[in-house]
Amino acid sequence: MASLLWAIILIYFCFSFNNIQAMDIIKLPEPKDKKAVYFKELIDTRRSVRTFTQKPVSIHDLSYILWSSYGFKDDGGRVVPSAGALYPLDIYVITGNIEGQGKTGILPGVYHYLSNKHLLEFIKKGDIRKDIANAALSQMWMAKAPCMVIITCEYNRITVKYRDRGIRYAHMEAGNVSQNIFLATFNIGLGCGIVGAFDDNHVKTILGINKMHEPLLIMPVGYY
Ligand SMILES: Cc1cc2nc3c(=O)[nH]c(=O)nc-3n(C[C@H](O)[C@H](O)[C@H](O)COP(=O)(O)O)c2cc1C
Repeated sequence: MASLLWAIILIYFCFSFNNIQAMDIIKLPEPKDKKAVYFKELIDTRRSVRTFTQKPVSIHDLSYILWSSYGFKDDGGRVVPSAGALYPLDIYVITGNIEGQGKTGILPGVYHYLSNKHLLEFIKKGDIRKDIANAALSQMWMAKAPCMVIITCEYNRITVKYRDRGIRYAHMEAGNVSQNIFLATFNIGLGCGIVGAFDDNHVKTILGINKMHEPLLIMPVGYY
């Protein structure tokens, strides 16, 4: 009887693990600081990292980085300022096929960060890091990063109010987001780079994202 019970528990676990891999929505854990770092020390550490070790980025690290990029604070506000509080940006993540990645619960693929619910929405399966690096004027160092965070903009969400000036506001906001990503990654012992040189349409097609979401910055992230 006891062994039958164990067999049922085992089957249940295997089944739920497979389900984690096939899930369309990944609930991210609560973002938590690992340690307290003085702000100046954090700024002193920040630099553009272009060489990464092949250690996967955990779901906890990703949760922290994504929340820092465009998440919601406890008071209901967002982590970055936005002209007219219109928030025209979207954040995507791609994860690569490196050893141990499966254990993080996030399979290689493209995901959309749903900031209001702190979830990852599955977009597309597969390791597309090399394709993205090729689309970024063959900056192949990018393909060695375990994951990349991509900042996109849907311009009409801000130009509807600010017309052409909304374009500059959106770019300023992307700057705020990217600096938050820099500081968040270094704060938890990881590093990142920043890439603005790429073929927009090529990147959009490789990602398979909403065609209205224009890629602005690609940030390769990982341990270094
Ligand atoms: C908007 C923007 C675009 C950038 N594009 C690239 C890029 O395509 N490739 C790259 O290797 N670095 C890129 N960088 C990083 C800069 O080269 C880097 O920030 C600069 O050399 C200063 O070094 P630091 O970030 O280590 O302080 C970019 C930086 C910014 C702000």
